[in-house]
Amino acid sequence: MAVYQATTSAPVNIACIKYWGKRDTTLILPTNSSLSVTLSQDHLRSTTTSRADPSFTETKLWLNGKEEDIKSGGRLERCLKELKKMRKERIEDKEPNAPKLSEWNLHIASYNNFPTAAGLASSASGFAALTSSIAALYELNTFSSVKPAASPSELSIVARLGSGSACRSLFGGFVAWQAGSSPSGSDSLAVEVAPQNHWPTMHALICVVNDAKKGTSSTSGMQRTVETSALLQHRIKDVVPKRLEGIIKAIQEKDFDTFAKITMADSNQFHAVALDTAPPIFYMNDVSRSIISIIEELNRVSLSKTGHLVAAYTFDAGPNAVIYTEEKNVKQIIEIIVKYFPQSSELTPFPDPFKLFGGKQPEGAEELPEGFNQDVAKVWEVGSVKGLIHTRIGDGPRVLAEAEALLGSDGLPKTLA
Ligand code: DP6
Repeated sequence: MAVYQATTSAPVNIACIKYWGKRDTTLILPTNSSLSVTLSQDHLRSTTTSRADPSFTETKLWLNGKEEDIKSGGRLERCLKELKKMRKERIEDKEPNAPKLSEWNLHIASYNNFPTAAGLASSASGFAALTSSIAALYELNTFSSVKPAASPSELSIVARLGSGSACRSLFGGFVAWQAGSSPSGSDSLAVEVAPQNHWPTMHALICVVNDAKKGTSSTSGMQRTVETSALLQHRIKDVVPKRLEGIIKAIQEKDFDTFAKITMADSNQFHAVALDTAPPIFYMNDVSRSIISIIEELNRVSLSKTGHLVAAYTFDAGPNAVIYTEEKNVKQIIEIIVKYFPQSSELTPFPDPFKLFGGKQPEGAEELPEGFNQDVAKVWEVGSVKGLIHTRIGDGPRVLAEAEALLGSDGLPKTLA
């Protein structure tokens, strides 16, 4: 009996122009367009195996090895329905010999290689991996050599139904999610602004910030902002369109200064609209604000010496910082961060992937750059920044070999070592 199964992985993306607000909460249509950088799957990724079989009595999903309920009428169900429709209309109805995979139940196993405790959003890479694996299973990405049955932008519409930011993980490099205007959502999709190899020296440093409290979820937080914030309306109408235009030009010209200025301003405005929400939402904490002060000081010193900025910070719906910088500056930035946020001797889950520190835990800078005001932040206790993840710009979803499959020959999740 033929086995119909596919495994893919998909990347995490971190927005420079934030998505915050929906105009349609079921179809997940945003109030504004957004733009992100795709991070490398060599370090952070979600992997999904999907299998269709006429003997499966129901569709089942396992996340990190644990079976999850599939809510009727929920986000996952909407994604599956859309993918089945594409398979039926674009392949099965045209090719009478094509197996009717769209009529069979699925077993889906998904795994994130980063710890949930790191507080990194997994819904973007997760729904992108799920969409791309079922698309590969259904041969939507390959169907004919002339034209795939569904383009990455079309698949981004499906991933969007799972989680808004997931649509941007269907591409590598720099990606825009066009808000669109159609009530059906047919024009609310992701497009590539520039591929990964356009600006390969773009690196990212994630500072995993210790966070005791359970924050407000993006989904509920952004709806509260839509309902109560006047500042959000100004952001949607007057701010985001100009910033998008500016950052796309900066990316095309590899103009780091403009890229950094817009990225930091947009992160700050996103957190300002969170504060403008009733009741207010706080995602950053004192550690986050110290990281802002350190990067601002570093940029001030660099600007006065060289006329250029060196780094851009951005924060999502939690206290973790993502710092974008060019490869040549990463070592110095890590040393400065480690000076203010001493690390325990335990290595983080992704120790020194670029061998900047001989594979060892980085030491804090002995000296700060000349003219750097060291009092911009205090030296924090060990563990305030739990770990650093150094990565770079990456590619879009990858189709993986059979050996990487998360489902065994019995169609059930393999036990992961
Ligand atoms: C702050 O995509 O997680 O990361 O569409 O409700 O699933 P849902 O929300 P989600 O929101 C992400 C918000 C953000 C900004 C961004 O990624 O653009």
